[in-house]
Formats: sequence, C-alpha cells, structure tokens
Amino acid sequence: MTRKPRILSGVQPSGKLHLGNYYGAMQQHVALQSEGSAFYFIADYHALTTVQDRERHAALVRDVALDYLALGLDPKEATFFRQSDVPEVTELTWLLATVTPMGLLERATSYKDKIARGIAPRTGLFLYPVLMAADILAYRSDVVPVGRDQVQHLEMARDMADAFHAAYRCDIFTRPKARLAERAEVVPGTDGQKMSKSYGNTIDIFAAGKELKSAVMGIKTDSRGVDEPKDPEGNTVWQLYRLVAEPAQADEMARALARGGYGYGEAKKALLAALEARFGPARERRAALAADPGYVESVLADGGLRARAVAREVLAAAREAVGMAGGPVSSAPSAPRVP
Ligand code: TRP
Repeated sequence: MTRKPRILSGVQPSGKLHLGNYYGAMQQHVALQSEGSAFYFIADYHALTTVQDRERHAALVRDVALDYLALGLDPKEATFFRQSDVPEVTELTWLLATVTPMGLLERATSYKDKIARGIAPRTGLFLYPVLMAADILAYRSDVVPVGRDQVQHLEMARDMADAFHAAYRCDIFTRPKARLAERAEVVPGTDGQKMSKSYGNTIDIFAAGKELKSAVMGIKTDSRGVDEPKDPEGNTVWQLYRLVAEPAQADEMARALARGGYGYGEAKKALLAALEARFGPARERRAALAADPGYVESVLADGGLRARAVAREVLAAAREAVGMAGGPVSSAPSAPRVP
C-alpha cells in the first residue's frame, strides 16, 4: 500500500505579509494542499527565538492564521495547526540534539546571518535547526516546500535522522526532500532589491486604499520618458505585474513598454488594478474571519489534535529506540498523589 506523500511546512509568524512571502512560499503551500496529505503549522516555538513579547507573539500567531485561511488554505484539505500544540516536538528536539554534532549547527548559514544582523546569540537560536528537524521528522514528512534559504536546514534534518539511526541502530524517520517554489526567483521590492521587511521595500498583501497606492506609486523606475522604449525584464513594475496579472496581460504590458509610448505611471496603475483584482477578495475574507475568532481557534485546535496523533507514534518509537519507555509522558496514566 502506498500512502499519500506527507507535505509539511512551517510558517514563522512575522507580521504583515508581503508579495515576497506570498509568491515565495504561501502560493505554493496552498497549491500543494490537494497533492498529498498536507500539514502546515505556525512555528510559534521558533518565533520565540526573535519575539519575546507576550502580546506581540499572540497577535503574530493570530495574524498568520488569518492570512493563510484568507488566502486559500482549506482546513478540510490540509491539517493546519500551531507548532506548540504538539509538545512532542520539543521532546524530539532534545533526543535529536543529543546526536547532533556542534559542528553541524555551527555551519548553519541562517544562524550566522542572524547573529551578523545583531540578533542575540541565544541557545534557542542556535538550536533552531534541531527544532526544525524535529518538526519535519515528527510527522514523517516526505516533501517540505521551502524557500532557498531553508534548504540547508533540510539537509541538516536528514543528517540528524541519519545520526539518530546510526547511534541507536534503528530506522524510524522518513528522510525529507525539499521542494523549492516554482517561482523561486526573488520577488523584487519597491526599490528593486529582493522584497524584504528588513529593507523596508514591501508591498503588503492586505494593504488597501491609500497605503497600497502609495507603495505601488513609489516603485523606483529609471528616468525614461513616456515615449521612450523600455526593457520590461529589467523593470520592477513589470516584474511584479508578471507575478500578479494573467500571462496574457503581462505579455501585453511587455509589448507596450518595449514599443514606447507607454509610461511607468500607466504601468503602475495597471499593477494597482491587478493587485486589487487578485487580493481584494482575500482581504474581505480575512476581515470576515477576523470577526469570528472562535472559528479560527477551532480550526487550529482540531488540526493540532490530528497532528499530535502522528507525532505521538513517532515519538513512541524514538523513545523506545533510546531505551526509554515507549510513548510520550503525556499518555502515561495519571500520576499517583504526592502524599
Ligand atoms: N524555518 C522556517 C522558515 O523560517 C520555518 C519552519 C520551522 C519550517 N519549522 C519548519 C519550515 C519545518 C519547514 C519545515 O521559513
């Protein structure tokens, strides 16, 4: 019997979503939900490595749940949950940490980058890839859709699975494969660099009205006049338009730019209209979901139960392999009273 491939990915709750987040990851998550047994979770344990503020943390988690549901994650197709609703993952993190060489973690590019950007080098940040490996291995993930920056973490997850199998002479974990988004090319920001919150060059997906307009109108262009022919490929407005609009519309704009007689102002207006058409309905859906917190909570709670059932089985096998009683502590019979 062949089981459906498990597709798993974690999403760090990181504030307002922008087009780079959407075309770099979310769009692919939503598209993959019908291809296998998809598990998507909000990486709230991971978030604690950078956000340590109770209110902000809770708001970030709620926001990313709304974002995903509004943009088409279907809880009937995919299991959608909070990482921390499955505490088995932290237990597996420990088991993996005990077989993970320091050198493996010291080579992690994303850790080095974060330290270079001034994030405090805490143990949790250092162990980030171990927690991520536990996420992946706890659910027997076959395919992990991620951005390019996470590919090294996936290799590390495979290394940790191998190290555990070698140390305990067992074969418990599924070795995961990364899947890069088809449009893994970078989404340009309003200044032409990669779109990223840290560059302040984002166009937010749920922005509306004036805010959206001023982001789009503020896209940097060269100084070519309306009549001059322009190169669409080297032009941020068109690069974004191509992502958002229908292919035929994008071709049409490319021809108009190359011909001349079509200015950047007009191109920006077309981009604005395409953004409205593409994300306007999701914005409305998001507002409706935000007004129904009970529904969102029930989706996450239900997803957490389903995910936990899988993690429990894997954890039981891992505990057994190291010589502990099989089965997570939480399923033990209730403790006797302390006299
Ligand atoms: N590190 C991932 C990111 O920042 C988020 C993440 C956490 C993740 N655990 C994961 C992604 C497991 C895939 C699988 O994008």
